[in-house]
Amino acid sequence: MLELRNVSKWFGGLPALQDVSFRIPRGQVTALIGPNGAGKSTLINCISGVDNAQAGSIRLARRPVEALPAHDIAALGVARTFQNLKLFGRLTVLDNVLTGLTVAAERSFIISMLRLPGLRHEERQLRLRALDALDDFGLSRKAQWPASALSYGEKKRVEMARAFVSDPRLVLLDEPVAGLNADETARIARHIRRQRGAGHTMLLVEHDMALVMDVADQVVVLDSGRCIACGDPADVRSNPLVLEAYLGRMEATA
Ligand SMILES: Nc1ncnc2c1ncn2[C@@H]1O[C@H](COP(=O)(O)OP(=O)(O)O)[C@@H](O)[C@H]1O
Ligand SMILES: [Mg+2]
Repeated sequence: MLELRNVSKWFGGLPALQDVSFRIPRGQVTALIGPNGAGKSTLINCISGVDNAQAGSIRLARRPVEALPAHDIAALGVARTFQNLKLFGRLTVLDNVLTGLTVAAERSFIISMLRLPGLRHEERQLRLRALDALDDFGLSRKAQWPASALSYGEKKRVEMARAFVSDPRLVLLDEPVAGLNADETARIARHIRRQRGAGHTMLLVEHDMALVMDVADQVVVLDSGRCIACGDPADVRSNPLVLEAYLGRMEATA
């Protein structure tokens, strides 16, 4: 589904990503792990077009996308969540999820501008899809609440509903359980497993190794912007380079 080749990115002369290459197979969950500052969010930003890689190529279903802006990449079927929530606090939960259907919603807006028939029907269809997505994530009762009134865990679920509502080809999840308690973490893990069962292709940035080992088909390890390991979860977990760079350090600080 996605192929990265020698993706590199610098911030003010300092490398954040150096020659990162790996593939995300269709219908699989790829976990992206690595210590803080390894470049995980930067990579997600480059894939989603929020930022642009300065070197290397990114292909989505064989199509080069590394130079495209975020809007075009979203239109090609790449959806994401953010490590730091990005919801519209004053909008309702339902309207936040509707923003995940921007491409469809823009079409509906154009139809309304032109006063074409079919607007009502189109709008109703979009709302039904958004309500369905909220239902999937256990939030339909709060569809009309302002997003700002939700708990942190619920906001994380709204972001996931917004990412999945468009039935995207690839979903990028940046630390979906960070900051959540055990119950909320288990709940999100169930949602990720279910979306995986539904055949969604995902790139999951996650520190929770139990979750990674549970849901990932493939694990990619970044350290200081470099991909130091990539492969089967069990192999990666026992890779000495990974233990040294990541797990050892985690245990040392635990
Ligand atoms: N907008 C930015 N400007 C300058 N440096 C940045 C910016 N975003 C990230 N960085 C730097 O790039 C490196 C990778 O950061 P990031 O991708 O956020 O890591 P991770 O998500 O793995 O914790 C870090 O050294 C970070 O300080
Ligand atoms: Mg990050």
